[in-house]
Amino acid sequence: MNICMIGAGYVGLVSAACFSEFGWTVTCVDKDPQRLAELKDGKSPIYEPGLDDLLQRNMAAGRLLFTDNLGPAAKNADVILLAVGTPMRRGDGYADLSYVYAAVEEIAPHLKGFTVIVTKSTVPVGTSREIERRLRAARSDGDFAICSNPEFLREGSAIQDFMHPDRVLVGTDDERAKDVMGRLYQPLALRSAPVMFVGRESAELAKYAANAFLALKISFINEIADLCEQVGADVQELASAIGKDRRIGDKFLHPGPGYGGSCFPKDVSALIRTARENKSPVSLIEQVQRVNDERKIAMAHRVEAAAGGSVRGKTIAILGATFKPNTDDMRDAPSLIIVPMLQERGATVRVVDPQGRRQAEPLLPGVTWSESALEAAAGADVLVTVTEWNEFRALDLKAAKAKMRGDVLVDLRNVFTAELAHAAGFRYSAVGRKP
Ligand code: NAD
Ligand code: UGA
Repeated sequence: MNICMIGAGYVGLVSAACFSEFGWTVTCVDKDPQRLAELKDGKSPIYEPGLDDLLQRNMAAGRLLFTDNLGPAAKNADVILLAVGTPMRRGDGYADLSYVYAAVEEIAPHLKGFTVIVTKSTVPVGTSREIERRLRAARSDGDFAICSNPEFLREGSAIQDFMHPDRVLVGTDDERAKDVMGRLYQPLALRSAPVMFVGRESAELAKYAANAFLALKISFINEIADLCEQVGADVQELASAIGKDRRIGDKFLHPGPGYGGSCFPKDVSALIRTARENKSPVSLIEQVQRVNDERKIAMAHRVEAAAGGSVRGKTIAILGATFKPNTDDMRDAPSLIIVPMLQERGATVRVVDPQGRRQAEPLLPGVTWSESALEAAAGADVLVTVTEWNEFRALDLKAAKAKMRGDVLVDLRNVFTAELAHAAGFRYSAVGRKP
């Protein structure tokens, strides 16, 4: 089977590499010359554990190709997957579909033979129908079907998630497309992954509903964590107790500085817009968004309070800038709110992040970058964990405290424990737990 993947970003690149691992021939098309140059050298332009190996192996086998030349790739493809970005549109918070429609316009002249065109990008309900309308207008002679196939992988564990999905969701009513998509995912189905065929609208909306539900769980536990602090309960004990109930589940109940990333914030926003436009508002999800926006601001205030009420003239060492560990992605990271707020209030900020510096540097002007947590801690008044990278877990807190000027540890990810922090001489503030 010949696959054309449009977009070599976090989703396109991982999906292309995984499809080629199954033996399919995949041509990945991107417009970003720097991205392409790195890829042609066998290097991943993004940090995703395991991706470099997968790329090199499949490129060497001749099954995974990178190009900016869409024509031949589209012409020879049985399946064309759209994995371009759908960021939040400035002004109204809806999904910006300009990259999707531009790609559709570009593929139109090259379609040859029966082709299945798949939206792997997260797109609002009704987008596949609109793509179909546009393509039929451009190619009345074309033989194609448009499917929705939303992707559920997480950054940082993207390869594992792609290879072992909870489900593969395909939205189509077209019988020929069902055959092609069934064949595309046969390697996963043979490994017992449920491949579900549903209507296009159901598939499109299910992606947003899934992300909104996960965001809701996070905002829920963040509010409960605040309550725990007021009444002397421990949110981790509480989360593991309620998580044992299989109707609730123990995943996505880690409190923190609010959800970030390239998807939850923009997808929650787009769902709110879609719902309002369809006169069926999702008021619960609107509240989730409010709680999360306020959460990031509250975390900067928490650091200020822990520092004695003011950070003016103080040095704050921030451990972790990316929106979660094991990625270099800085999109909508809580650090982008917390760090500038501390700077505005007169703090000097140092940051250390194992993979995030390249993306973070232009987004966080005025900070000093450190190579290690210990280097960041030297001379600092306050140490703050913002992203729970594993290497921070191994930090020798006694050694860090010995290098610092102050004695405050604000643990926004509950990486450490009060016992460890106190033994090292810190005044400790965690999320939803006793200080
Ligand atoms: P990204 O910004 O990392 O990558 C998009 C890529 O598409 C870029 O490399 C860009 O140069 C390329 N591109 C744009 N227009 C193009 C065109 N016309 N031709 C060729 N290349 C083009 O985006 P991403 O994070 O991979 O997200 C892609 C989509 O997948 C989004 O809709 C997102 O919501 C969805 N999604 C993302 C994740 C994730 O973890 N990042 C998970 C599930 C779904
Ligand atoms: C998320 C979903 O988990 C994926 O299923 C989905 O495919 C993807 O969005 C998408 O549509 O792009 P991702 O954003 O990569 O994946 O990462 P998550 O692990 O979901 O984390 C998102 C944010 O929530 C992070 O800021 C993380 O720190 C935060 N989070 C997560 C918590 O604060 N607590 C938790 O318990 C879990």
